[in-house]
Amino acid sequence: MQVLTLVNQKGGVGKTTVALGLAASAWARQVDCLVIDIDPQGNATTGLGIWNPPFSIDHALAEERPGSIASLRATSTWPADGGRPPSVVPATPALAAREPQLMTDPIGANNRLAVALEGVDHEIVIIDCPPSLGLLTVNGMFAADQALIVTEPGAWASDGVNQILRTVERISARRTVPLTVAGVAVNRMGRTRDARYWDEQLRTDHGSMVLPAVRLRAAVTEAAANSLPIHALGSRPGAREAAAEFDTLFDLIVNTEVSNGV
Ligand SMILES: Nc1ncnc2c1ncn2[C@@H]1O[C@H](COP(=O)(O)OP(=O)(O)OP(=O)(O)O)[C@@H](O)[C@H]1O
Ligand SMILES: [Mg+2]
Repeated sequence: MQVLTLVNQKGGVGKTTVALGLAASAWARQVDCLVIDIDPQGNATTGLGIWNPPFSIDHALAEERPGSIASLRATSTWPADGGRPPSVVPATPALAAREPQLMTDPIGANNRLAVALEGVDHEIVIIDCPPSLGLLTVNGMFAADQALIVTEPGAWASDGVNQILRTVERISARRTVPLTVAGVAVNRMGRTRDARYWDEQLRTDHGSMVLPAVRLRAAVTEAAANSLPIHALGSRPGAREAAAEFDTLFDLIVNTEVSNGV
């Protein structure tokens, strides 16, 4: 099982979009994928077609119970025809109250999600984090094997990436197994000179860590709004190209043993 957490303290850069894009690649390839939404906004949850769920990730974070995730999984409403719908641990707005509550745990509440995932088995687990480096995101990082930093080619993106890299290092130092960086995904890549400038800046500063860009395309927003995998958008302009970009990321990030189904 490979556990990937998508992070950036900055809002609106595309953490959820890339999480859904990678889940869509898994869908198209019949890979057994679990998406865990730890953002109270619940955008990954609704993107996967889950509305008003009776249970949520908040139940797992409320206590330290090994394997509790197993009973909190719903199945995405993504079509069962043409792909394999992912499992989803949904988030609801109630999760917003959990973070300050976790901070009051005298022995620390960094690894509640890691404990909740114990014994749970999927080929790939994708964790969608909120826009902060707070305790919810820290729980995502303690539960993951790899952090995927998502950014957009905007002002000072590189500085933001540096800040996350420092957090990843600090968390890694506190674990028995290191937390590695899966890469930096550059999302919302436009055709402007400004976008090219900041994209180049990221590639100069972070070298081979920076992955091929995902372009800004209306089809990407449309897929999420319609709770569909981008791969199922058919002939909608840009859908096929966007799907191919997420497949490229998927192939670079996900263990080849997994994508080959071995
Ligand atoms: N490649 C893209 N093409 C077009 N629109 C995009 C793309 N990526 C993201 N968007 C749009 O930008 C907005 C922000 O994206 P998204 O919600 O994925 O960011 P986020 O980092 O998860 O935000 P938050 O920090 O609030 O969780 C959304 O409306 C989304 O549809
Ligand atoms: Mg999001």
